[in-house]
Amino acid sequence: MTQTADTVTLTDNRTGKQVTLPVLHGAIGPSVIDIRKLYAETGYFTYDPGFTSTGSCESSLTYIDGDEGVLLHRGYAIDELAENSTFPEVCYLLLNGHLPNVKEKEDFESILRRHSMVHEQLTRFYSGFRRDAHPMAVLCGVTGALSAFYHDSIDIDDPYHRMISSHRLIAKIPTIAAMAYKYSTGQPFMYPRNDLSYAENFLYMTFGTPCEPFKVNPILSKAMDKIFILHADHEQNASTSTVRLAGSSGANPFACIAAGIASLWGPAHGGANEAVLKMLEEIGSVSRIPEIVRRAKDKNDNFRLMGFGHRVYKNYDPRAQVMRQTCHEVLGELGIKNEPLLDIAMELEKIALEDPYFVEKKLYPNVDFYSGIILKAMGFPTSMFTVLFAVARTVGWISQWKEMIEDPQQKIGRPRQLYQGQTKRPFIPLAQRG
Ligand code: SDX
Repeated sequence: MTQTADTVTLTDNRTGKQVTLPVLHGAIGPSVIDIRKLYAETGYFTYDPGFTSTGSCESSLTYIDGDEGVLLHRGYAIDELAENSTFPEVCYLLLNGHLPNVKEKEDFESILRRHSMVHEQLTRFYSGFRRDAHPMAVLCGVTGALSAFYHDSIDIDDPYHRMISSHRLIAKIPTIAAMAYKYSTGQPFMYPRNDLSYAENFLYMTFGTPCEPFKVNPILSKAMDKIFILHADHEQNASTSTVRLAGSSGANPFACIAAGIASLWGPAHGGANEAVLKMLEEIGSVSRIPEIVRRAKDKNDNFRLMGFGHRVYKNYDPRAQVMRQTCHEVLGELGIKNEPLLDIAMELEKIALEDPYFVEKKLYPNVDFYSGIILKAMGFPTSMFTVLFAVARTVGWISQWKEMIEDPQQKIGRPRQLYQGQTKRPFIPLAQRG
């Protein structure tokens, strides 16, 4: 391969045939080789299972520098957003490309409040689930069902429909999530209140009851808001790519978000926060950490250190840094001086970060490593951890979906393959099969 600043030329060593492909440059980050005409000109596909070296789209929402441990949303660093803004502000930023001024912020928060209730008939979906159903199953089912209630906003070619669907999903997902938790406890659903902020409302709908006034702890609502910000969007991760691929066929946004929820559920992705807490509980004491680290390094053992490693970050996940600080703040506020799980997590992190295996493979704690300890301290059951991730990521999913629909280059996603199956063979009638 030979290259100039804006092209690469590939030579087929068998035939001597050459093909010159454009190199496209981003605002920052790696440039890309535009291979859209590769198959037509060479008869070759590229091969990249897991898309380790493949860009699927152009996007302006989120930039990650994995080597430096940098995460930007529309150019703003995640630690600055977590420290200085609110989740609704970050939602506005992702949807609209700039931080809202005072009026824009008030108007947007008012829109979210007005859309936070769900259709009353939607409540009947819950009774079809077992009380012990995993809340991610409930969230996935009920979110997909939203498309049966909002026929007035599923014309994806109508900018107004795209925006109102985005608002409805961001506003209703916490209500649906809180209802999933209430259903699992047998407690009555709590309707959203318009006098509360997004994070306060979610805590109210989750932990409040009709029997007495519910006072939201401001430290906990600030922590909840910060956790939502940290999980809002993350470039073309598995669940976001699922939403984009589903949306590329023209499926309605509610169905696309349900697909994203399904993908996020996996333990290698958003399900890792639940898996981290189960791992820490299984470790049980600091004395068992060396055994766990040995298992994580053993090629013959498929055990992995949950909450460690990342496809993009080869440095500390900047979200994990903020999460670790928030963990100490929340436990301190709650007066939890001795949390064995935090002791185990911090010792595990210390040992792993000094171990050559993790150092060489550049495996650092990711966003899921500390989040579960905070959420457990806030009173959430482990089964709700990935639900909270989905509540926050809905804005990222719908912003990416909207960007894709509005991208003039977008077309239905349809990857090819390297076929390794049977070549053509004659049919064998049943009577002649051995
Ligand atoms: C999220 O993509 C995103 O942006 C996701 C996310 C988001 O915000 O959307 O950031 C959210 O999903 C965070 C990741 C949560 N998952 C976990 O914590 C699960 C544990 N981590 C791993 O399973 C793994 O690190 C992945 C899935 C996160 C990344 O896997 P990759 O990029 O496919 O890397 P890999 O599996 O090829 O691993 C590279 C090497 C392998 O060893 P070798 O085969 O090269 O010898 O590192 C090893 C792996 O065995 N390795 C681990 C490990 N993670 C990778 N070994 C032990 N413990 C681990 N956690």
